[in-house]
Amino acid sequence: MKLDDVQRNYDRLSRSYDFWNRWLIEPFVGIEGLRQRTVDALELPQGGSVLDIACGTGLNLPYLARQVGPEGQLVGLDYSPGMLAQAGRRAQAAGWENVRLVQGDAAVLAGVGGPFDGVMSTWALGIVDDLPAALRRAVEVLRPGGRLAILDLDRSRAERGLRRLFDPILHLGLRLSGVDSAEDLDDERLAQRWQDGQAFLHQALEDVRVERNTWGSGFLLLGRRPERDDE
Ligand SMILES: C[S@@+](CC[C@H](N)C(=O)[O-])C[C@H]1O[C@@H](n2cnc3c(N)ncnc32)[C@H](O)[C@@H]1O
Repeated sequence: MKLDDVQRNYDRLSRSYDFWNRWLIEPFVGIEGLRQRTVDALELPQGGSVLDIACGTGLNLPYLARQVGPEGQLVGLDYSPGMLAQAGRRAQAAGWENVRLVQGDAAVLAGVGGPFDGVMSTWALGIVDDLPAALRRAVEVLRPGGRLAILDLDRSRAERGLRRLFDPILHLGLRLSGVDSAEDLDDERLAQRWQDGQAFLHQALEDVRVERNTWGSGFLLLGRRPERDDE
């Protein structure tokens, strides 16, 4: 999705995003279990540092804050100021003083700092306009030995299960709400983007594992940056 559209669409969605996540996505997909699994896979130490790319309203923050504790460093980046404002409210209400929120493009990651013990992204990178640059930067801001976890969809249509019947309605809802553009929902384009993206990550990381989820349309990719890049 082009950056101008990201800002317009997600700023508009920011106040209702958590409502839809809780009452539409969670019952359908069980996203909270997948968020927990993604954070667990980072194996963050207490006091560790983590970057959540395209963090949205900060729905991963409760899991991350528990994992790294008050001594840890949490950085969330998103392009939409509206989504970040919601994340800021969440952090303030919970009293997490170790959360820093940065407005910017995932393909650049300017101002996030690092290197991090863990870098993650949930249900976001697939719509980032320059996905190859975003994946390159995600690896670059990891410390050697640090872990990357990406939860995303690489098919816009379910491969199996009852959800296939609901795909046309779901797509209409995603388009009208602005969560996805028509281009983002192009099944072949999305599959090709992630095929190339996963090929890059298999080459840049070690111990790469891919778990399929969401009726065959989603994945969790896990990997570790080598201690030395020429390994
Ligand atoms: C579907 S939401 C997911 C939010 C959050 N990761 C979650 O799991 O709830 C997609 C997010 O990606 C952000 N986004 C899209 N393109 C971006 C880009 N190029 N740079 C930074 N954020 C971007 C949007 O602003 C939005 O917050």
